[in-house]
Amino acid sequence: MHIMKICTINTFDIDCAVLSDSITMLAYLFESRWNMCGIVGYTGNKPACNILLEGLSRLEYRGYDSAGVAVQDEDSTNVVCRRGRVSELQASLNSLDIQGFCGIGHTRWATHGRPSEANAHPHTSCDGRISIVHNGIIENFGELRESLEGAGHHFRSDTDSEVVAHLIEDAYKKSLQREYGNKLLAFVDAVSEATSHLVGSYALAVMNDDFPSAIVATRRDSPLVVGMGETGAYVASDVIAMLDSTRNIQVLSDYQLALLTPSSITCFEQGSAGLNEIDVPITYIDWDIDLAEKTGYPDFMLKEIYEQPRVIRDTLAGRLVGNSVSIDELTLSPEELNLIDRVYVIACGTSYHAGLIAKNLIEGWARIPCEVEVASEFRYRNPIITPTTLVVAVSQSGETADTLAAIRDARVKGARVFGITNVVGSPVARESDGVIYTKANKEIAVASTKSFLGQVVSLTLLAMLLAQTRGKLTSAHIRQLYSELADTAEMVERILSDTTDIDKAAQACKDATSALFIGRGMGAAVAHEGALKLKEISYLHAESYAAGEMKHGPIALIDEGFPVIAIATNSPTYDKVLSNLQESRARGAMVVAIATEGDEDIKSHADYVIYIPHVRDALSPILASVPLQLFARSIALSRGCDVDQPRNLAKSVTVE
Ligand code: M6R
Repeated sequence: MHIMKICTINTFDIDCAVLSDSITMLAYLFESRWNMCGIVGYTGNKPACNILLEGLSRLEYRGYDSAGVAVQDEDSTNVVCRRGRVSELQASLNSLDIQGFCGIGHTRWATHGRPSEANAHPHTSCDGRISIVHNGIIENFGELRESLEGAGHHFRSDTDSEVVAHLIEDAYKKSLQREYGNKLLAFVDAVSEATSHLVGSYALAVMNDDFPSAIVATRRDSPLVVGMGETGAYVASDVIAMLDSTRNIQVLSDYQLALLTPSSITCFEQGSAGLNEIDVPITYIDWDIDLAEKTGYPDFMLKEIYEQPRVIRDTLAGRLVGNSVSIDELTLSPEELNLIDRVYVIACGTSYHAGLIAKNLIEGWARIPCEVEVASEFRYRNPIITPTTLVVAVSQSGETADTLAAIRDARVKGARVFGITNVVGSPVARESDGVIYTKANKEIAVASTKSFLGQVVSLTLLAMLLAQTRGKLTSAHIRQLYSELADTAEMVERILSDTTDIDKAAQACKDATSALFIGRGMGAAVAHEGALKLKEISYLHAESYAAGEMKHGPIALIDEGFPVIAIATNSPTYDKVLSNLQESRARGAMVVAIATEGDEDIKSHADYVIYIPHVRDALSPILASVPLQLFARSIALSRGCDVDQPRNLAKSVTVE
């Protein structure tokens, strides 16, 4: 067995990964974000419940429709599941006093079967002696279930996962009739045999009442790691769940199995003559656990908002070489860049809004036609793509299903695809011709904040590069723009240093039932992002419109006290926005304006003014979006919402 070391990761920035053995680790790193649920398991000499709960709370950001644990107690298993958060489960477990030393746990984002206690994992076999937790999707679960039901199995849930427990139950009965040197191998073999019937993806942790301190784990196309700690053995779908207890991790590959006991982890592969023991290398993980901690902030969202000045600095670092923008990762020669005659930015959600900002910059500076499309639309139509089309795919997670599908489609049609993502080694990074990493570091709050700013800065650099290569911006312009971009980091710090006006405006709007965000040009894109942030974390209905559209319909919404949030920063259309504000106020709107420091006039057009430092219009989204993040958060908290884990959402959307 050998150990490789992954050095301290500044987000999943693994530049310093030891290369020789890093391929499995890299695969794991992107895959570990590639599911919308979380698995954790432990067997050792400490009570399992607390360890499972701790692990689940670290994984919860990926999915939080329900949570559950199964804990071995002598020769039976206690299964406790709750709809909702890990905290609900914890409350129940506190009153139950479950003592076992071996258990598995799961946090779920519902795909098959609605969020409910019955559909929560762990699932058990008919006799209750096999318990499983599953990540992934069993595509042939319908036919498997039908045949299992035909053979007398009774199902308790609507999930695809439950078939696995029943298949293992049958396989185990059969394997008991065979000869094994070690009886535990019958259990491992049964798991292997059962999974051979599965079509789709799975990461599984399985317990069997016949072996009260053993867990069998296996996977295909869904990540799973195991690790030996001082007090026992761990399994998890993401290393983050076990970092407190062990940093010696083994990354399982597809079809490999691991047998965990309190004192050992043994890995196997199924060969033609049966199970073969194999050596899975141990990787030492030296990540900064702070990445997964709130480090004194009340929530991850606030922590991440306050990280934004650093994100700007890190994303810009090294991007100006001499007087030129340097994005070597683009892998296009200046000649090829010059030939580009159309740019598509494809993305979803907040990343799409970053794309809307980029459109203004790419067209304004580089004079290349640029279209921005939500990936779920782009992939199902027939966009005009030629070899001189550049497709820019923007995705924080780098694993959004629609964005990935759009990338694949664009490449088949001959486009060059450039990815902008936050996750090193993610599918978007791997499947693009080149990639910029946004250096936001791990983003845990479901609502994107710092990754958005990283995307906007990256896209601004891309627009500058395109413009410079095509001779539309001089070296002097580039140097000046870069310097102004760099200044925004300190300006964001200033915005964050005093949030009094933001909180006042939020208090005034918190009881509204609906709100309208408006802006023009860059401001329209910021308005869209502001409205998304508000609705996703506060559940307050919010619309966003290009302000010029007001008279074409949305103005009908306005009556006494209706909140209108306007991006009214200095811009070529500032006066037009003022007119829209007057029209809104004339109909009773309560206006909150995001305006430029020094603009006294705005006070006579707005009920609340939130000032941001002066920057050129092209860079204003970087500043103007920050107060809107805080505004949304403040309203959400006043309304008693969980800002890190809003209902119905998951951090990564890996299904269509
Ligand atoms: O990981 P991605 O950037 O591809 O995700 C896209 C959207 O799902 C994401 O931006 C989502 O809209 C966020 N919840 C917004 O805060």
